[in-house]
Amino acid sequence: MAYNDFSMDNKWLPFTPNRQFRKDPRVFVGADGMHFTTHDGKKVVDGISSLWCVGAGHNRKPINEAIKKQLDTLDYATAFQASNDQAFKAAEMIAAMAPGDLNKVLFCNSGSEAADTSLKVALAYHRARGEGHRNVFIGREKGYHGVGFGGMSVGGIPANRKVYGSAFLPRVDHMRFIHDPVNNAFIHNQEPVWQEDILLELENRILPLHDPSNVAAIIVEPVAGSAGWYLPPQGYLKRLREICDKHGILLIFDEVITGFGRMGTNFAADYYGVVPDMLNFAKCVTNGVIPLGGVICRDKLYDAMMKTEAPEHVVEFFHGYTYSGHPVACAAAIATLDVYKKENLFQRAGEMAKVLGDAFHSTFKGLPNVIGIRSLGLAAAVELAPIAGTPGKRAFDIFLDCFHNGALVRPAGDVLVIAPPYVVEKSHIDQLVNTLADSIRKNA
Ligand SMILES: Cc1ncc(COP(=O)(O)O)c(C=O)c1O
Repeated sequence: MAYNDFSMDNKWLPFTPNRQFRKDPRVFVGADGMHFTTHDGKKVVDGISSLWCVGAGHNRKPINEAIKKQLDTLDYATAFQASNDQAFKAAEMIAAMAPGDLNKVLFCNSGSEAADTSLKVALAYHRARGEGHRNVFIGREKGYHGVGFGGMSVGGIPANRKVYGSAFLPRVDHMRFIHDPVNNAFIHNQEPVWQEDILLELENRILPLHDPSNVAAIIVEPVAGSAGWYLPPQGYLKRLREICDKHGILLIFDEVITGFGRMGTNFAADYYGVVPDMLNFAKCVTNGVIPLGGVICRDKLYDAMMKTEAPEHVVEFFHGYTYSGHPVACAAAIATLDVYKKENLFQRAGEMAKVLGDAFHSTFKGLPNVIGIRSLGLAAAVELAPIAGTPGKRAFDIFLDCFHNGALVRPAGDVLVIAPPYVVEKSHIDQLVNTLADSIRKNA
């Protein structure tokens, strides 16, 4: 199919350099398994699960069939003052997969909405308990929680914040970043061990500054995905949990990337053995096929909000989206979670994590400009020295070159990430890693 079949005059592409794209379009028209077909008939291997979404690989018949059946049964139903059977079933499955008493699922449509929803739950929960003064949020440098004003405010990727500062939430602070490029540049399927305790800054500076009694919630990605797969120091998340417990602060894990299998476990919360008060998800929950996100809340959050003196006709939590728990999206989620389970795909992700990590470290170490390699779970990153004066250009050029050579990888600043579907074979990993290595050499 030639690309003059469509005009490119009207679509404005998100998080994409549009001017460059018009000169060198990358348009997918088909997908199956590990591969895409492009508008000009090329085959491209999906090395990033299409933005960390497609755990089970593309074009999975059980998911497609479930969606078709749902369309013919109940296409849509109002989400307010009524609901649909698929939403209850999906919530039950998701709660059963979540650790501890994370049992109450608030659906939305994306990771950004999940971030804002979780922040609003935190405020409403504290207020319901008579602690409405708790209104400070703490995020982390280089965190990504989507593009809503709440998520952006607690997020910490400079380029995403630069233009919008005037509209940020007013009472937000950020913990320091979790990367040590001197001692932990190369991490091979293990947790980085730090000599220093980087949470002392939270305990000794940030919390006293705001007074812990004013802090509503701390939100972190267990592993910083969008910034370029940065791993928490050993013991970090456990200690963060303890600090939150000590001060009555809610802990939110943004598992939009790490949720549903990426770490070889249901959630990163399971991998690290830490149960947050809220767990945000999206992406892999439907294999990316239909937008769906959500926040899984501990029982105590729901219970506190139900314990109200207000009459029963009064809404307890004034929040929701027209498409919260859309029946077609929930049918897709049910079928997706079934596929993951039947095919043991999370276990497979855990097994292939070693293959991916080994390939990264044996192939990239010593290549020109490589200053770091990090692998854990079924994702790995190679960090490159930026070209002086033009940060991000080296990785973007490499991304383009890989694409032209049939491999979709993800640039993040001067980091390149591979996070394939859980159905990936060693041959795909070899292709992805070798294509990336050739491009790193070419762009030296
Ligand atoms: C950790 C995290 N939170 C939130 C989001 C935003 O999700 P969405 O793009 O679905 O709004 C992302 C997207 O990559 C993410 O990685």
